[in-house]
Amino acid sequence: LLHMKYFPIDKSLFVSNRNNFLDRMTSKSVAFFNSNDLYPVSADTTLPFEQHRDIFYLSGINQEESVLLLLKKGNNNEIQEILFLKKPNEILTHWEGEKLDKEKAYLISGIKTVYWLEDLEKVTDQIISSVENIYLNSNEHYRAKVVVETREARFNKWIQKKYPTKNNKRSNPILQQLRAVKDPIEIELIKKACMITEKGFRRVLDFVKPGVWEYEIEAEFSHEFLKNRSRKFAYQPIIASGNNSNILHYIENNKQCKEGDIILIDVGAEYANYSSDMTRTIPVSGRYTQRQKQVYSSVLHVKREATNLLKPGVLWKDHHTEVGKIMTFELLKLGLLDRSDVQNQTKLNPAFKKYFTHGTSHHLGLDTHDYGDVTLPIQANNVFTVEPGIYIKEEGFGIRLEDDVIVQKSGNPINLMKSIPIEIEEIESLMDLK
Ligand code: GLY
Ligand code: MN
Ligand code: MN
Repeated sequence: LLHMKYFPIDKSLFVSNRNNFLDRMTSKSVAFFNSNDLYPVSADTTLPFEQHRDIFYLSGINQEESVLLLLKKGNNNEIQEILFLKKPNEILTHWEGEKLDKEKAYLISGIKTVYWLEDLEKVTDQIISSVENIYLNSNEHYRAKVVVETREARFNKWIQKKYPTKNNKRSNPILQQLRAVKDPIEIELIKKACMITEKGFRRVLDFVKPGVWEYEIEAEFSHEFLKNRSRKFAYQPIIASGNNSNILHYIENNKQCKEGDIILIDVGAEYANYSSDMTRTIPVSGRYTQRQKQVYSSVLHVKREATNLLKPGVLWKDHHTEVGKIMTFELLKLGLLDRSDVQNQTKLNPAFKKYFTHGTSHHLGLDTHDYGDVTLPIQANNVFTVEPGIYIKEEGFGIRLEDDVIVQKSGNPINLMKSIPIEIEEIESLMDLK
């Protein structure tokens, strides 16, 4: 049963995700989750379909125009799960291929009650008298900037208008809590994404030499990703040679790589909608300069220390403050800051921010910048990136290193990217083999 390019996912993941959500719903409530729209470009073109991560998390269903309904009448014994799917028809099958039928939808999601979308209103009318609250979902991620009206937003408007006397509750805070703590099945999927990224990176180590173009490196990754059942880059790839490495979100990838320069490569494969997020910084010629090595070693040191500070109970902002102290020490060593810079710094404007201009970590999962309430203490089985960087415009290069790690109940986090070359000697010797 191959729903998409990826291998089937054990449906117990989605069953337990729904159970966790239902546990946190108040009784006499119903919750709805919608697919994303297919976004138009112009004429009859659309962007490739990206399933809404919340309905995927709760059902594994990766098809457009799907709706999930979760009903909790009384206690946990009185729950109901209903999936509504676009009804397959011959014309659809002819043009787009097979759509999900009820049996397949069950095998993917574990949901036994599946109706066609055309019955959504009728079924909702039947159950609505048994509930007082309607949980509406919306994107409340702290970095979200949503200017379009999503399918979910249209649905919310429709249902509020249809049942104006029901209380509305928010699904998003529950999802932010649940999605931040990864299930072992999810960890395997993220590992798989990391492994595909590793294949791409090893291919690139073999490929890079003076004169290659940044987009050619992008193409090498793409080749390896698609060959390994990844649909695409998990986010816009950054292949930044020379001074481009000082541009945090450089995505043009259209310059030629010059001898003596470094290339900052921030690239990750998706797999089954799960992200990986890696950064490596490699020398175009296969050899780092002395100065590049110094800065690189500092970034690598900060990354190691920052990783081991990710422990359950630690507060996000305290983690960042501690990492800042370690970074400050390195910047002093590199001669980028001096004592007076540090003496004059303030809490709001610490000296290290001149060279390390972004956060150290973010949650990673179905979204690259995943859900997770960053005001809450860090928990076991949170998956984070660790990605310090030092950007030196006056010297024409920046270095960032980024791995994905899982926080453990006790001890140091597990690095999901520990087999992806990062040591200076290893990178130089692998690039030497060409
Ligand atoms: N590649 C996006 C990030 O590192 O956050
Ligand atoms: Mn990244
Ligand atoms: Mn990242």
